[in-house]
Amino acid sequence: MIKLAPSILGADFGHLEEEIIKTNESGCDWIHLDIMDGHLVPNISFGPAIVKYVKSRSDLFLDSHLMISNPEKYLEVYAEAGSDLIVIHYEIEHDKIPLLEKIRKLGKKAGISINPHTPLEAVTEILEHCDLILIMTVHPGFSGQKFMNQVLPKIRQAREYIDSNNLNIEIEVDGGVGLETAKKVIDAGADILVAGSAFYKSGDYREFNRKIKDLAEKS
Ligand code: DX5
Ligand code: ZN
Repeated sequence: MIKLAPSILGADFGHLEEEIIKTNESGCDWIHLDIMDGHLVPNISFGPAIVKYVKSRSDLFLDSHLMISNPEKYLEVYAEAGSDLIVIHYEIEHDKIPLLEKIRKLGKKAGISINPHTPLEAVTEILEHCDLILIMTVHPGFSGQKFMNQVLPKIRQAREYIDSNNLNIEIEVDGGVGLETAKKVIDAGADILVAGSAFYKSGDYREFNRKIKDLAEKS
């Protein structure tokens, strides 16, 4: 069963409480939180206070995508704020395995994210320390960018690798996913779709969720 994880970065922050409640009632599965430090990626978004606020208004599984260069300093903070899954980037200049192990020790699921130009081979050795791989289909930093079709073979490759090695790892795909691109992503083998602008601009969150689930059923 495919999961939908709306990225709250695409929501109207002037009406954040209402947006969270509507997201919660849409039938979607997770809430994706894009945390950016203006260093690893060229944009700054929000920090733990927003994660905590989302947690206080939603009982959905919270997926914190840390686009920050020094996550080692903040893992406890994002765990305490209410994240259920914490994803770090492969592209940071630190050893990933101790960080992934620390996330698990904090009682959270651990994920590794790879940018569009990072090959799957870069992370196969560390996958045993992960519960999830987040494959970026845009260059991280902003909502509303165009889906990069050239990443589709890597999603298929990850699906084959995970299945053939009997790994218990979910595949999440993030960036430019909407009703026009979702089917390709599902067919390539994704388990979780992140959708920011497509979800929040759709006007009817329930309908958007239903359409994604229908696409998955037809795949
Ligand atoms: C990009 C973020 C994405 C993004 C999703 O850096 O990681 O989660 O906000 O937004 P859309 O779906 O609009 O690409
Ligand atoms: Zn994200």
